[in-house]
Amino acid sequence: MWRNAEKRNSKDMIDNPFSYGKTVDDPFFYDRKKELEEIKLSMRNATNQIMYSPRRIGKSSLVIKALKDLEAEGHPTVYIDFFKVSSREKFIELYTRELMRPMSNWTKGLKRIQGLIRGIQPAMGLDQAGLPELRLSIDPLQTARAFEDVINIPANSKHDKCWIVVFDEFQEIEKLNGESFEKELRASFQHHRNASYVFLGSQRHMLLNIFSRKDRAFFNFGKLFQLEKPSEEESMVFIENRFRVGGYPVSEKLIRQILEQTRNIPYYLQYLSAEIWESARLSSSDPDVIYPQALERLLINQTDYFHGIRNQLTAFQVRLLSAIAWNGFGSYETTFLQKYRLFPTSSIQKAYKRMTDLDILEKQTNQYCISDPFFELWLKQQS
Ligand SMILES: Nc1ncnc2c1ncn2[C@@H]1O[C@H](COP(=O)(O)OP(=O)(O)O)[C@@H](O)[C@H]1O
Ligand SMILES: [Mg+2]
Repeated sequence: MWRNAEKRNSKDMIDNPFSYGKTVDDPFFYDRKKELEEIKLSMRNATNQIMYSPRRIGKSSLVIKALKDLEAEGHPTVYIDFFKVSSREKFIELYTRELMRPMSNWTKGLKRIQGLIRGIQPAMGLDQAGLPELRLSIDPLQTARAFEDVINIPANSKHDKCWIVVFDEFQEIEKLNGESFEKELRASFQHHRNASYVFLGSQRHMLLNIFSRKDRAFFNFGKLFQLEKPSEEESMVFIENRFRVGGYPVSEKLIRQILEQTRNIPYYLQYLSAEIWESARLSSSDPDVIYPQALERLLINQTDYFHGIRNQLTAFQVRLLSAIAWNGFGSYETTFLQKYRLFPTSSIQKAYKRMTDLDILEKQTNQYCISDPFFELWLKQQS
């Protein structure tokens, strides 16, 4: 009894060996050796790259890892998440913050930045936690100049090694509208011989629109490629190792169940594994035994979120979604449409489009899949 309690206590000390919801690095990061080397090689060569994949496959984690390595090699780097860019001013601010990040002497740094970017008035402030924070204000009459200066930093601030500038979730640029922002970026970037621009995006059709349509500013701007899921073997090794490190080894059968349930998508794989580990720890049980309860707990935790998604949809869209959940995928094939009594075709088209735009569905050639495997499971439980 006493021994058990002691054993449990020592395991209580261990943090969850899985991580999800934010970008990951070692020891939560696995595979991607080949991709990492290729991306870094292109970055070093000042080649522009465009990488797309559905959300939660690991684009940001991979590129941030590459940036860290190249920063250590002496490359100046900039990383901007376009979900945070709500205006031109915000873009200028985020870019400038990135320039300030490696500067050890803030006062000198601020001076240098002011010398490089017109119209910018940096100031030190305190954030909510009371920690020093760089605040920036931009003279409203000089926004255009500040923007021009910021985007030309890689050309005007000489460095031995090339600049690496990453724009994550770049499809969001469309919301800023758009076209003029895009044109100005392109007009400057094309002269930057000493910079590698890397664009990431999770909405395939939007990103392809930006980079592969002749009438768009960024047409043919760089190497376009899709990031695939990690290999199943690598995922299996990772799951096995992490459960072992966490003190609760798992069977191969359970590893295969996790892969199947999460479709080997890194985010869901880590999320489910984290829940299983946590359930095993809380009840000191074998993960294999606790698995059904852990999955149920995860679905219960997500219920409000799932209701939120479903509530945005019309009754017809929900019906189509349930049909896709049961069928495994949706299409325009008559067998599928008849089986679930889905008509007319025009409503189906509209429903597919809406749910793809909302990221609920993902289009793969002629099939539509539900992006979130847990949502799919939940929908099946509901109908
Ligand atoms: N190489 C990786 N190894 C392990 N887990 C990963 C890896 N890449 C991504 N993940 C998991 O997926 C989640 C989402 O990763 P992220 O890089 O934000 O994906 P994306 O940018 O494609 O949406 C992470 O929080 C992590 O749980
Ligand atoms: Mg991302």
